[in-house]
Amino acid sequence: MFSAQACIQHIIPKTRPDFSREGSAFAPVNIALIKYWGKRDTELNLPVTDSLSIGLRTLGTRTRIRWTEGEDNISLNGELLPSDNAFVKRTRQYLHYFRPNPSLGFIIDTHNDVPTGAGLASSASGYAALVLALNDLCQWQLNKTQLSILARIGSGSASRSLWNGLVHWHAGTQADGMDSYATPITHQLPSLRVGLLTLSRKTKPISSRLGMQQTVHGLSLYPAWKPMVEQHLSRLQTAIAAQDIAQIGAISEHNALSMHATMLSASPALCYFLPETIATLQTLWQARSEGLACWATLDAGPNVKLLFDAHEEAAVTACFPKVSIVQPFG
Ligand code: PMV
Repeated sequence: MFSAQACIQHIIPKTRPDFSREGSAFAPVNIALIKYWGKRDTELNLPVTDSLSIGLRTLGTRTRIRWTEGEDNISLNGELLPSDNAFVKRTRQYLHYFRPNPSLGFIIDTHNDVPTGAGLASSASGYAALVLALNDLCQWQLNKTQLSILARIGSGSASRSLWNGLVHWHAGTQADGMDSYATPITHQLPSLRVGLLTLSRKTKPISSRLGMQQTVHGLSLYPAWKPMVEQHLSRLQTAIAAQDIAQIGAISEHNALSMHATMLSASPALCYFLPETIATLQTLWQARSEGLACWATLDAGPNVKLLFDAHEEAAVTACFPKVSIVQPFG
């Protein structure tokens, strides 16, 4: 077993705090088309399978960071958070890996464009922006592979939030995780649209971290997940190369619902859906049976993301008037 501390120290150069500097960065939210669900190492966030995502370009996290001689001081969306806040506790624990001495702290000001902890991938853009801002503050000049590994130790899906567009996170096989990082995919899908349906802004009752453990160890259908992901990934790569949005949507929806099926089959069962989630899926399936070319994907939360081609934009908006549409490729 390798510790997160040892892996991080192996990557970052010796850090000399410069109190006059400020680091800043932006990282986009990413939505997985092939999901990451289940870890082979919980400390290093090493996944059981590869995953593949799309960045939301303009939606993400902006973070500014400075050194302080005192305690960490963390603001989220303009509000200074108390030290017993769950977000602060988790961020501070991660920041411990980067302090050249334990008495040094960080002043962090971070803004999320999407609700925090509601299954809208805020932790992915959050940890990616934090790592990029640290790299800027400390002038490490790390490459994207190294930054992806550091972000992954904060939150697995953050390894994919260092790029826009399509991104592939390679599970890797090494115990130290040095081969578990993301790389960008050169294919572009200019006509792909992602529609966000925010059905609830509440923090999810069970974090993805605990949800994954409950599924992997909960006597569930989980053993079927790995071979299924391998098959979905290979079919998705073919569909991406062919720019086939209908296939991309269909494979992504099947993958997301298969992930939720493994959670439902755990003991105790895990369900992130709300009644509104089911109602939305039923509206979508009914509309699709009447010709709407639109598919859904869902993460560890009740909110739904739609995948469709630009020419369906008016029809999707007519069906889901509250949808917020993103153009991932500008
Ligand atoms: O990186 P985490 O621990 O927030 O887990 C993300 C899990 C999913 O969002 C459900 C899937 C994914 O690949 O993003």
